[in-house]
Amino acid sequence: MDARRRNRYLEAIGIDVWVPRPGNVRVLPAADAPAATGSAPRAGAQRASASPEPVSGDLAARWGALRSEVIGCTRCALHATRTQGVFGVGYQQADWLVIGEAPGAEEDRKGEPFVGRAGQLLDAMLRAIGLSRTSNVYIANVLKSRPPGNRDPKPEEVAACLPYLLRQIELLKPRLMLAVGRIAAQNLLSTDLALGRLRGKVHHFGELNTPLVVTYHPAYLLRNPADKRKVWEDLKFARRVFRQLTQGIPTDGDRS
Ligand code: URA
Repeated sequence: MDARRRNRYLEAIGIDVWVPRPGNVRVLPAADAPAATGSAPRAGAQRASASPEPVSGDLAARWGALRSEVIGCTRCALHATRTQGVFGVGYQQADWLVIGEAPGAEEDRKGEPFVGRAGQLLDAMLRAIGLSRTSNVYIANVLKSRPPGNRDPKPEEVAACLPYLLRQIELLKPRLMLAVGRIAAQNLLSTDLALGRLRGKVHHFGELNTPLVVTYHPAYLLRNPADKRKVWEDLKFARRVFRQLTQGIPTDGDRS
């Protein structure tokens, strides 16, 4: 199905399609790809249409082993109420890692992150900067099990589940992390600051000091569509940070 038809279909079923203004969006042509300096990008880093480089058998096996652990996990009480653990989805060598909060009802049913309405909006947001879960981004959540009624994760649930995310990050070694929503941002950055205060800056995460950018959760955007403009600013900022990273340009600082 072509993009126009799909957008018409999504709108018909009540999904607000993310269509950034013309001229703002550009899937990077090869000539725009980061310079092949010391830290060259991995294949599939920027172009949603490029076929990703195959993942080696060893790496795929390590991802598979971790997935099995998560699917069978009983570390917190949520295992008793979930349908299944929701591990993550995407290219296992992606440069970009998107991190959300926890599976919702649809994700719990299907076993894949961000497949409900918010997920469709997330896909559209990512597509606007040339990213796709099928080729160059990995998507995971802080929690791998659905909290009943979509309540906020409890601290003990986060404490039990975060080591899985850390191991996903260790396998992926992303160049850039994008935290979507307050819960993901606050837990990853160990802060109580409001999301508005965390946007527009490059934070750093974990032992690898991975650059991390924050934006609103797509579910929030479904409720507050006027803030799409802010998210578009955040996505452009993240894309700029990523380009700087691949060109060896320091990324500390904020949007200004
Ligand atoms: N919201 C999230 O944060 N993650 C999902 O996987 C789905 C909705």
